[in-house]
Amino acid sequence: MVSVSNLSLRFGKRVLFDDVDLKFTTGNCYGVIGANGAGKSTFLKILTGEIEPTTGKVEITPGERMAVLSQNHFAFDDFPVLETVIMGHKHLYEVIKAKEALYAKEDFTEEDGHLAGDLEAQFGEMNGWDAESDAPNC
Ligand SMILES: Nc1ncnc2c1ncn2[C@@H]1O[C@H](COP(=O)(O)OP(=O)(O)OP(=O)(O)O)[C@@H](O)[C@H]1O
Ligand SMILES: [Mg+2]
Repeated sequence: MVSVSNLSLRFGKRVLFDDVDLKFTTGNCYGVIGANGAGKSTFLKILTGEIEPTTGKVEITPGERMAVLSQNHFAFDDFPVLETVIMGHKHLYEVIKAKEALYAKEDFTEEDGHLAGDLEAQFGEMNGWDAESDAPNC
């Protein structure tokens, strides 16, 4: 669960949010709607920690993790949807790509073997085996 409490944001004199309390609960899908310039993107940046609010805080249930994709209509055009969702978990995606590059090598050295072990351990810690089946729920 992600909870937002007592959240306010001001840009100079302009008040974008004032004392907002919200809870995003498990199993739901949320959309943010509002007029152009209302503050949707700014609100999401506060949720992800990219921007500090003027007051209040955002909390995530301990043990949960937030994955984020940047708001760019074209950035993911060349990637399948599943891969795009996994990209939201930056570290996991980097490990997957590093593993792929390593296993594609023709001259797999002993050192590569150690690196592969390290990457597999990181992959396991991040529940990498479940990433593709989890992605459609994101
Ligand atoms: N760093 C900043 N400093 C000052 N004002 C800002 C800053 N960032 C955003 N704003 C202003 O805050 C308001 C909200 O911007 P935001 O981009 O969050 O709106 P939005 O709802 O996502 O709009 P759109 O529908 O166009 O995407 C706008 O008036 C914008 O000009
Ligand atoms: Mg926006």
